[in-house]
Order: sequence, then C-alpha cells, then structure tokens
Amino acid sequence: MKITVVGTGYVGLVTGTCFAETGNDVTCVDIDVNKVNKLSAGQITIYEPGLEKLFERNLKEGRLHFTTQLAEGIKDAQVIFLALPTPPGEDGSADLSYILRVADQLGGLLQDYKVIVDKSTVPVGTADKVHAAIAKNAKVEFDVVSNPEFLREGVAVEDFMKPDRVVIGTQSERARKIMGDLYAPFVRQGNPIIFMDEKSAELTKYAANSFLATKISFMNEIAILCEKLGADVDMVRRGIGSDDRIGKRFLFPGIGYGGSCFPKDVQALVKSSQEAAYDFRILEAVMDVNEKQKLFLLPKIQAYFGNDLKGKHFALWGLAFKPNTDDIREAPALYIIDALVGAGATVSVFDPEAASNVQQLIGDKVTYAESQYAALENADALIIATEWSVFRTPDFDKIGAVLKQKAIFDGRNLFEVPRMQELGFYYESVGRSA
Ligand code: UGA
Repeated sequence: MKITVVGTGYVGLVTGTCFAETGNDVTCVDIDVNKVNKLSAGQITIYEPGLEKLFERNLKEGRLHFTTQLAEGIKDAQVIFLALPTPPGEDGSADLSYILRVADQLGGLLQDYKVIVDKSTVPVGTADKVHAAIAKNAKVEFDVVSNPEFLREGVAVEDFMKPDRVVIGTQSERARKIMGDLYAPFVRQGNPIIFMDEKSAELTKYAANSFLATKISFMNEIAILCEKLGADVDMVRRGIGSDDRIGKRFLFPGIGYGGSCFPKDVQALVKSSQEAAYDFRILEAVMDVNEKQKLFLLPKIQAYFGNDLKGKHFALWGLAFKPNTDDIREAPALYIIDALVGAGATVSVFDPEAASNVQQLIGDKVTYAESQYAALENADALIIATEWSVFRTPDFDKIGAVLKQKAIFDGRNLFEVPRMQELGFYYESVGRSA
C-alpha cells in the first residue's frame, strides 16, 4: 500500500518506518527542511532503540521517502497519517492548530479517495473538525479515521510491531477495510483490531493514559503511607499486583510520572471534562499528587543535611524522564535540580543519553560529568532520578570511597534496603523503611 505520514516527529517516524518494514511504500512529509535533508541522507533524528536499523534498511531498499512538499507527498497515497504535535495550550487544552492547518490544505490537494488518519493524541471531536476542514475545499470523497497510538518511548518499535491492540475509529466500511488490511500484519498473533466510532477511539487514548497515570499516583500515595505506617511498598506492590484484576505492571512507585504524554494527556482530559461541564475529581487529584511527588526526595535530603543545603554539592544520576530515552520533558530530575540550586546547592549530573538535551535547556546551571562515577567527585551525596540499567549494579566501593558522605537518595528504588545498610550507606528510597 502507498501511505503518507505527515509529521516526522517521534510518532511519525516510528509509524512511517514500521509501515515500510511490512512492505508498504511510505512517504514522510515535514515542513522542516533541515530534518527532511538529514532523514533523506540516512541520518536518524530521534533516539529510539531498534529504530535506526529498520530506518536504514527501508531507506536503502527504497520504501521510505522524505519530502517537504505536501502536494507531492500525498499524491499517490491511499492513506494519509497525521502525526503532528498537539502541545498543551495555555489553559491545558490540546492545541490543534498544526493539525487543522494541514487539514485546511489537504482538501484542495485531494484528487481521488483517501483515508486521512488522526494519529496524534487529540480531544474528542477532533475527527469531526478535521473532516469539516478538509470538506471545505475537497472535490472528491474521503474519510477521516481516528487511530490513536499506544507507543511507549524506548520500546516504541516493539509496541508498533506487536501491539496489544489496534484501535480504529471509523464508521465508514470503505475506510475500515483499508485500515484492517494495513494493520493485518501487525496482529498476526491474534491481538485484536478494535473498530469503534471516532469519538470513542479518541477518548480511548486519553482514558488509557489517564488510567495508567492514576495507577502510578495511587501507588505513590500508598508508598507515602507505607513510610508513615512502617510497611514496605515492594511487598504491598507484589501483594496486590498478583491479582489479575489489578495487574503487575505500572505499580512501581517513584518520583512521579513525566514525559510528553501522561502529564499533557491527564491535563487535557481534565480540561475536556470541564468543557463538558463535568468535574473529573480523580484526575485532578492524580495531577496534584504527581506534582508533589517530583520533589518527594527533597525533605529527606534536607533532613539529612540539617535543613541547610547551602554550599552542598550533589551528584545526580539520571535526567531523562525514564530510561532508554533522551526525552527530558517533564522529567522529575529537572524539578529536583531547580529545588537544589534554589536552596544554594550545586549539582553534577550524568545521564547516558539525555545530558545534551538538558544542557540545551538549562546550560551551566549544573555541571555535566563524563561518567556516572565522575559525577560523584566532591559530592556530598548521590541522588538517583532515572532507573537506567547501568545504574542498577554499580561499584558500591567506588561510590562509598568518592562520596563525602555515604548517602544515597534513590527516587526509583533500585537497591535493596538491607543490602545498602550492610554496605554502610545512608539510603533513602520511596515507600520502604530506611
Ligand atoms: C505513555 C504510554 O505508556 C503509552 O502507551 C502511550 O502511547 C504514550 O504515553 C503516549 O501517549 O504517546 P511513555 O510516556 O513513553 O508512554 O512512558 P511510560 O513508559 O508509560 O512511562 C510514563 C511515566 O510513568 C514515566 O515517567 C515512568 O517513570 C512513570 N512510571 C511508569 C512510574 O512512575 N511507575 C510505573 O510503574 C510505570
């Protein structure tokens, strides 16, 4: 099938590459000339494990093309995916201007029937708006379909190639057939393609992310309670997670969820609810708990240093909002840095992938260490903000020898408490007795 993906950001590039991988001919369109030149020359523009190999192969074999010209890019396509940004506007609602601008142009460019697919996370009712914007200038038949993505950064290729489910919102039989054929190779193991109406598909995406964010905030509150009552959140997590109705995943407490999806989507769903004259109280609490959770370690750090951080120096491991990505959007580490620097401390940071993004954002507010151990030099204590695998079995002798005080504040529960006590560390984590 010939398909076009408009927008070569994270979702667009993964979508385009993975569709090329199953033999489709894919053209990706982006207004950014620089990006298009780089991608055409075989230079990948995002960090995502496993993507580069697929990208290079499909580019080489001529199934992946890049252009800045929308008209040329969509000419032969049967399906056009819109994978454009929907950043939060000032009031928290999703900004649809990127999508609607392209929809406005598309109408006049269509020469035969095409399926236009909303891949971006968009509020309920957007498919109707996109339809109306295209219809203004269209002289041929077309359908607008909602097909939300459920990709996790860091495992996006795997999520795309073997999805738990594919959600397709359309009431057109013609579009349903085309979308079903396109996705058939990805659900060969029997996972479902769930067809529904456009609005239900749009809401499914927000409901999924909001539910997962709720699970995390719930566990973060249970962790707080564990500390207050002398229980161990690891035990409680295992105790409840083995109930199939609850499930083992997404029950890990920590210093809050971040990234480009959960914070934005929860906020947008609260906003949509308000617009529908409904007060979504659980989600308001989820957001509130998460805001506070990002600074969960701070009172512990302050208490250890007698409530005076002035002149103290900290090593901080992990900047990305989660491992296996260089994404620092809404990363808890940034909030911790702000608080520490605000209290008069200095920070030396290390992250396997995300340091240059942080440097672009906050410059010399912190120092950037070459390695996780170099970050420890002259540090009074170590703080861990992201659970990169490489932090999981560190050389504790080295850490103990370099740190001025053998103190670790771990926001991701990487180590066992008794082991740390045995090694002589002062060790604070989330929801476990120190
Ligand atoms: C999330 C969803 O998981 C995807 O299904 C969805 O497609 C994507 O948003 C999106 O809307 O585009 P992602 O933001 O990449 O994916 O990251 P997750 O792996 O879901 O993690 C989100 C945050 O939750 C991270 O900050 C992570 O540290 C935190 N988390 C996750 C916890 O604190 N505890 C857990 O048990 C799990």
